[in-house]
Amino acid sequence: MRILVTGATGTVGGAAMELLRPEAEAGRIELLGAARSEDGASKLRGKGLTPVALDYDSPATLRPALRGVDSVFLITGYSVDMLVHSKRLLDAAKAEGVRHIVHLGALAADDTPFAHFAWHQMVERTIEAMGFSWTHLRPNFFIDTVWNGFRQRPDRIVHFVGDRRVSFVCAKDMAAVGAEALKRPDAHAGRTYPLAVEALTFAEVAAVLSDVTGRPVEYRPRPAADLFPIMQKQGAEPVYAASLAEGVAVTERGEMPLSGAVFDTVEKVTGRKGIGWRDFAEARKGELPA
Ligand SMILES: NC(=O)c1ccc[n+]([C@@H]2O[C@H](COP(=O)([O-])OP(=O)(O)OC[C@H]3O[C@@H](n4cnc5c(N)ncnc54)[C@H](OP(=O)(O)O)[C@@H]3O)[C@@H](O)[C@H]2O)c1
Repeated sequence: MRILVTGATGTVGGAAMELLRPEAEAGRIELLGAARSEDGASKLRGKGLTPVALDYDSPATLRPALRGVDSVFLITGYSVDMLVHSKRLLDAAKAEGVRHIVHLGALAADDTPFAHFAWHQMVERTIEAMGFSWTHLRPNFFIDTVWNGFRQRPDRIVHFVGDRRVSFVCAKDMAAVGAEALKRPDAHAGRTYPLAVEALTFAEVAAVLSDVTGRPVEYRPRPAADLFPIMQKQGAEPVYAASLAEGVAVTERGEMPLSGAVFDTVEKVTGRKGIGWRDFAEARKGELPA
């Protein structure tokens, strides 16, 4: 079986590559990681992984990368281009006879009106309408994203949802569920998997981090309205950033269904408990500056 992981140089795709590596080394699967640059390809090679050139913005790269592939992990970035990127990937996958698509989406109610959640659901409907076998992953807040900010300033957590309790999942758990679906499509075909293992307020997250690191960690709530200008300053793609800021504002007002929901998907699919904030921080605290 040949598996292609897109976004293999990113957070979730990178975790999926690491998890699938032993299967590839044992010769049970053939594993390819998509890279859009030589830099990305050499990073994968440096980890003993096999890159394949794939750039959603260069459609000619897509069919060669998908040739002979059975299962694809479809991961797109934080941009409205996710729509056209997904369409191009799926058209090429269909043309190359790919059977199973595992799509990384986002957790929301089925009738969500909020932009990037709705876009992900439109990609899901496209996958189904095109006749692929499919597994849809719908994660809520990524622990890794918050952790990456914390790593820069390990005395504080800044967020924009006030005192709301929201639910979290980490890349390793998303990758573990994704890897199962990629390897055993028949067991996971036609399933939509919500992914969120623990719900906490950001003050509670800060308390866990303080406990694990043995240092004071403060939660600094900021108004939801501050998020968009901050993301703009950081160079984020503006259409997706506006959608993210809207989602955060709605969550802060307590009007986002499922924003604090927790599910046992990770345990059901992988047979082990999902990783919460405490276990994540214990495993990663060595990354923090002394
Ligand atoms: N963060 C959250 O809390 C959260 C919650 C729910 C859902 N999500 C969803 O998670 C997804 C993002 O996952 P992530 O955090 O793993 O993303 P990420 O770390 O930003 O990685 C994105 C990956 O996509 C690749 N990529 C970007 N543009 C590309 C192009 N034109 N051609 C080929 N590859 C390209 C990147 O390659 P390079 O390394 O070359 O840039 C990278 O490997 C989004 O769909 C988002 O909606 C996020």
